[in-house]
Amino acid sequence: MTTRLGSIAVAFGVSVLGSAWFAAAYVLHAGPQLEGLGLLVALGALGLGIILWATLAIPQEQVVDVRDDYPSSREERSGAETALQHGADELDRHGFLATFLMAAFGALGVAVLFPLRSLGPRFGEGLYRTKWTPGARLVRSDGAPVRASDLAVGSILTVFPDGYVDDASSQTLLLRLPLGVLQASPRRRDWSPQGYVAFSKVCTHAGCPVGLYRASTYQLLCPCHQSVFDVAHAARPISGPAARALPQLPLQIADDGYLRAQSDYTEPIGPGFWQRS
Ligand code: FES
Repeated sequence: MTTRLGSIAVAFGVSVLGSAWFAAAYVLHAGPQLEGLGLLVALGALGLGIILWATLAIPQEQVVDVRDDYPSSREERSGAETALQHGADELDRHGFLATFLMAAFGALGVAVLFPLRSLGPRFGEGLYRTKWTPGARLVRSDGAPVRASDLAVGSILTVFPDGYVDDASSQTLLLRLPLGVLQASPRRRDWSPQGYVAFSKVCTHAGCPVGLYRASTYQLLCPCHQSVFDVAHAARPISGPAARALPQLPLQIADDGYLRAQSDYTEPIGPGFWQRS
C-alpha cells in the first residue's frame, strides 16, 4: 500500500515538473517539439496518478462476509477498533495525495496561461500607431537614410522609420511626383515637399504589400486582389476590393537635407476593425 501511495505522489510530482518544462520551453522559444514534450509529461503523469489513485479504492481480493450467530467477542471488537483506526490513517494519506494532486493541477493551470501571450498584441493604442514619430528619418531597407536629392521624378522607394527597418506595419512607399500632379487637400498641402509623397504600403483591403507602381498614370496596384490606388488623389481606391485610401505619411525636408516624417500616420494603417464599426 505504501509503495502504491509513493508511486502516486511521484506521478503527480513528475506532472509538476512536466508543466514547469512546458512553461520554460515556451518562454525560451525552445520550439514546439520541446513544448509538446513538456505537456505530454505533465498530462500523462497526471492521468497516471489519477488512475493509480482510483485503483486504491477497488478491493484487490475477494471478501466473504460470514454472518455470526453470536455477538462479537471482546477480541473481535478490539480488532474492529484497530481496523477503524487503520482507516483513519488511510484518510490522512488520502489528504497527503490530494495535496500532490492539487499541486499538479495548479502547475498545469499556470503553465497553460503562458501561451496566452501568443494570441497577439493587446487590444489598445498599438492598433492605431506605427513606429513613425515626429522627425523620424526615412531610411531604406538597408538602413541608409534618404536625402531629398536621392530620387528622380517618377521614382518609388520602400522606406522605414530610422531604427525600425523590420517593422512591417511601418513600411511606407515614398514616391516623387512631378510638381503640380498631386491634388492635395488644404490640410495636406505641406505634407509633400518637392513632389515627395509617402503612403502606407499595407493594403487597406487585406494587408498585402502594395508594391506595383504605374508611373504613367500615377497608380499603385496591390497584387493580391488587384486594388488600384490613385496617387494623385491621396491614394484613394479606384478599382478592386479596397474601400479605403492608403494612409498618407506627412513629410518634411530637414535642414540637413534628409527626408523626415512630420508625425505618425494620422489614421490607422491597413485593414481592421474600424472599417466594420
Ligand atoms: S490585399 Fe490588396 S487588394 Fe486585397
